[in-house]
Amino acid sequence: MIGKKVEEAINRQINAELYSAYLYLSMNAYFHSVSLAGFANWMRVQALEEFTHADKFYGYLVSRGGRVKLAAVAAPPSAWKSPLNAFEEVLKHEQKVTALINGLVDLSLKEKDHATGSMLTWFVDEQVEEESNADSLVGQLRLMGDSGHGLYLMDKELSARVFVPPIQAQP
Ligand code: FEO
Repeated sequence: MIGKKVEEAINRQINAELYSAYLYLSMNAYFHSVSLAGFANWMRVQALEEFTHADKFYGYLVSRGGRVKLAAVAAPPSAWKSPLNAFEEVLKHEQKVTALINGLVDLSLKEKDHATGSMLTWFVDEQVEEESNADSLVGQLRLMGDSGHGLYLMDKELSARVFVPPIQAQP
């Protein structure tokens, strides 16, 4: 049976992951509105991945005999100044999520909840990738400056991203 403090923290993280999905879906809509379907595709895949993150925490809590409690998901912004600005916000957001995951690791250590600590290892590694992807896209967009041609090529590249569903299922 999972402790109350860890249970509450995982419920908060489920909400944070669902907010991430909501944020990236909103960015998907923004990119469609400025005719960048490849960027929109990247955001849609990102949103689907965030949903699987929420689902991982959800399934874990159920498997530990915890009680999932869903809370309201805050409304995300709906517009950004530019593709670069949107990706800068992705990077900032992922840095915040990394801090949340690190906070969960700290809590699991404090509560001597080794099972939760072990489960969180996947998320610690995932956040390295999340930040690195966002950072690299921010770097490319900065290099590109105002080049419409560059944006066109990057849009083509981002249209190739596909969502790979995780094998793990809920218990
Ligand atoms: Fe679920 Fe993008 O971290």
